[in-house]
Amino acid sequence: MKFFLDSASIEEIRSANELGILAGVTTNPSLVSKEGVSFHDRLKEITSEVSGSVSAEVISEDAEGMIQEGKELASIAPNITVKVPMTLEGLKAVKAFSDLTIKTNVTLVFNANQALMAARAGASYVSPFLGRLDDIGHDSMDLINTIATIFNQHGISTEIIAASIRHPLHVTDAALNGAHIATLPYKVLGQLVQHPLTDQGIEKFLADWHKQQ
Ligand code: E4P
Repeated sequence: MKFFLDSASIEEIRSANELGILAGVTTNPSLVSKEGVSFHDRLKEITSEVSGSVSAEVISEDAEGMIQEGKELASIAPNITVKVPMTLEGLKAVKAFSDLTIKTNVTLVFNANQALMAARAGASYVSPFLGRLDDIGHDSMDLINTIATIFNQHGISTEIIAASIRHPLHVTDAALNGAHIATLPYKVLGQLVQHPLTDQGIEKFLADWHKQQ
């Protein structure tokens, strides 16, 4: 499983990129609006920093508007992936982008049929939202497993992005259940490398080393 960062903060993206594990970035309108900057300018900054896929979401609700917006976003850099909501209009737009060889990430996926429809329309990625499903008492890992099983059984190459990640266990479980990618909030990325026994071990090794000097 690869790692994307779920952020529009250029500082967070640069810092994650220094770790050498960053395969891409996802943004959404909420994350961009927190930044208080021009969306296109920020996308230029992100795409010059990160060589992998950078998802940029359209806000139109009709296919025509999504296609127009998506073309403009895709012209910013070759690694832009147009993020499209999981609606009937969204599927029409995904088909159009697929014909234009523009990559798409179908977002706000909450069941397996939505994922299958998106894949068949030509989506490069589907994004099932784990945290938001768990919040309403559903088993988000069951969904990842079901989508991965269907895609494997039917030879579908669309990649599954585990999104709406809230904690490190989501990451481990998404990997175990067949997600290709997890898109992580910066805070969770930091949590993945932490363990109290690692910290205690370093402290003990250094204390022992300094005793002998
Ligand atoms: C994914 O592409 C979305 O931007 C994101 O994971 C949504 O997460 P949230 O449910 O924490 O807003």
